Amino acid sequence: MELPFAEAWKIKMVEPIKKSTREQREKWLNEAHQNVFMLKSDYVYIDLLTDSGTGAMSDRQWAAMMMGDESYGGARSFYHMKDTITELTGFEYVIPTHQGRAAENVLFSYLVKPGNIIPGNAHFDTTKGHIESRKAFAIDVTVKEAYDTQLEVPFKGNVDLEKLEKILKENKGNVGQRPLHGPHRHQQHRRRPARLDAEHPRDLRALPPLWCARQRR
Ligand SMILES: Cc1ncc(COP(=O)(O)O)c(C=O)c1O
Repeated sequence: MELPFAEAWKIKMVEPIKKSTREQREKWLNEAHQNVFMLKSDYVYIDLLTDSGTGAMSDRQWAAMMMGDESYGGARSFYHMKDTITELTGFEYVIPTHQGRAAENVLFSYLVKPGNIIPGNAHFDTTKGHIESRKAFAIDVTVKEAYDTQLEVPFKGNVDLEKLEKILKENKGNVGQRPLHGPHRHQQHRRRPARLDAEHPRDLRALPPLWCARQRR
């Protein structure tokens, strides 16, 4: 008999969190004007806003922190990380950033120019923020099914290719880049998982103007 999957680790440390009642949550949400960013994290029992840096670390990760070389420049830990990333991805140049939002800031400082149109499939909030703070425009080209919260379809993160093509045609020479979300852990404003159809990126690449837009950048 094949046994069900079971985790091959023990969790050594716990952080207490508070449970709440439905009435409390409704009150807090109303006080926050339904804006989850206005909620105190103490009010949130299951927080899906990001998973980055919020999970449990293994004993080896904690131990590695103690062994780490914290030198300001030329740190041994950096070279260790860089070599591992290069080995895994094949990329020779690596800029470490502490989180996704910081990586966007670095990348967009190069990619996004004022006035650019940046189409995307439901831009993550910080993605949109980094685009707009550079005086560019984040245009959502997600399939319309994504907006129906009651509709059950397997993929809500797909790009609407017609919408995208229209934007590319109407904004020739001004489409900065294409933030394409891969399998996404969460989409906080829709509060439901969404990911790209496995075939979908191939359809996207098949769209000729997209390549032009990328080359022009
Ligand atoms: C495009 C993008 N930017 C930013 C984030 C947020 O990540 P972090 O919490 O590491 O900043 C995510 C998380 O899924 C993301 O997909």
